[in-house]
Amino acid sequence: MKVLVTGAAGYIGSITTEALLRAGHQVVALDNLDLGHRAAVHESATFVRADLRDRDALLAAFAAHRPDAVLHFAAYALVGESMQRPAAYFANNIAGACNLFDAMLAHDCRRFVFSSSCTVYGQPQQVPVTEDLPRVALNPYGASKIMVEEMAEWHARLSGLRTAILRYFNPAGASARYGEDHAPETHLIPLALAVAEGRLPQLTVFGTDYPTPDGTCIRDYIHVVDLAEAHIRALEALDAHELFAVNLGTGSGTSVLEVIESVRRVAGRALPVEYGPRRPGGADSAITYADPSLANELLHWRASRTLDDMVASAWAWRQRHPRGYDDGAQ
Ligand SMILES: NC(=O)c1ccc[n+]([C@@H]2O[C@H](COP(=O)([O-])OP(=O)(O)OC[C@H]3O[C@@H](n4cnc5c(N)ncnc54)[C@H](O)[C@@H]3O)[C@@H](O)[C@H]2O)c1
Repeated sequence: MKVLVTGAAGYIGSITTEALLRAGHQVVALDNLDLGHRAAVHESATFVRADLRDRDALLAAFAAHRPDAVLHFAAYALVGESMQRPAAYFANNIAGACNLFDAMLAHDCRRFVFSSSCTVYGQPQQVPVTEDLPRVALNPYGASKIMVEEMAEWHARLSGLRTAILRYFNPAGASARYGEDHAPETHLIPLALAVAEGRLPQLTVFGTDYPTPDGTCIRDYIHVVDLAEAHIRALEALDAHELFAVNLGTGSGTSVLEVIESVRRVAGRALPVEYGPRRPGGADSAITYADPSLANELLHWRASRTLDDMVASAWAWRQRHPRGYDDGAQ
């Protein structure tokens, strides 16, 4: 299949592109390189530098490449920043998606796989989190994910767009070639690795008074390579299923302190920690982890890699790319 991957120069898009190529698909890798890295785009993919907000450029890309399916990763994805710049988040994540749906329908491209997030559940009222829980927006980023889910659902009903909504829990780790290089970085594992490397002086743990066994928040970390493989299964599952939304997680939770212990163990380095208060806003739920059974069943897929695998792969990637993609190494 010829697959157009938006956000293919980003963290998850680059690693999914690699998995698609390995599975025998052709990839058109579209990115504006606003946040992504040219060096993260696999040499066997056809790279198109375009912005989703540029409707004409998008239509031209579809006319030139005629993809059979779209995997849509491109978005702004920082919760905190979305509270500061809501209009930018809506313009990019919503208007960009509108242009994408138009271009898909104009070129009879009817398979859509969307990068959604467990953030659509807000502060979930039960764990494990199942897909039937209500969608609740706690910030503009979460609102944008809910809106694109709803837009995709309407297009599925009205235009026969076959749609897979994938709600990621907490992606982490690296493939042998591609890794996580965000600026600014907000995710726990790359921040902990930066401290272990000596690039940051210490790691701040936000809140030690949550109702969890060690007092820190519990999340469901999923290896990015497991996640990438789930996208290929989702693309295949669209043969049999017109519209579905599934959680992509492992089904088990890990506390912040357990992640820190894993980083210390794998890196074999000191990791100074500072204990701070909870983050303001009260938006961090104490415990969030997925019920992945629907994804297991529909996609015939299961996350198989452990937390130490995630940390070890991310650590190995950082060792090979001490300055991230800035060093140009592959
Ligand atoms: N990383 C996570 O923890 C996480 C968790 C849940 C969901 N997600 C979702 O997964 C997707 C990918 O996340 P990521 O961590 O790989 O992000 P990323 O920032 O590494 O990659 C996003 C890519 O999209 C590109 N992009 C953004 N806006 C664009 C536009 N208008 N036109 C063209 N390209 C554009 C950026 O240049 C970047 O390369 C996002 O939709 C995000 O919301 C990520």
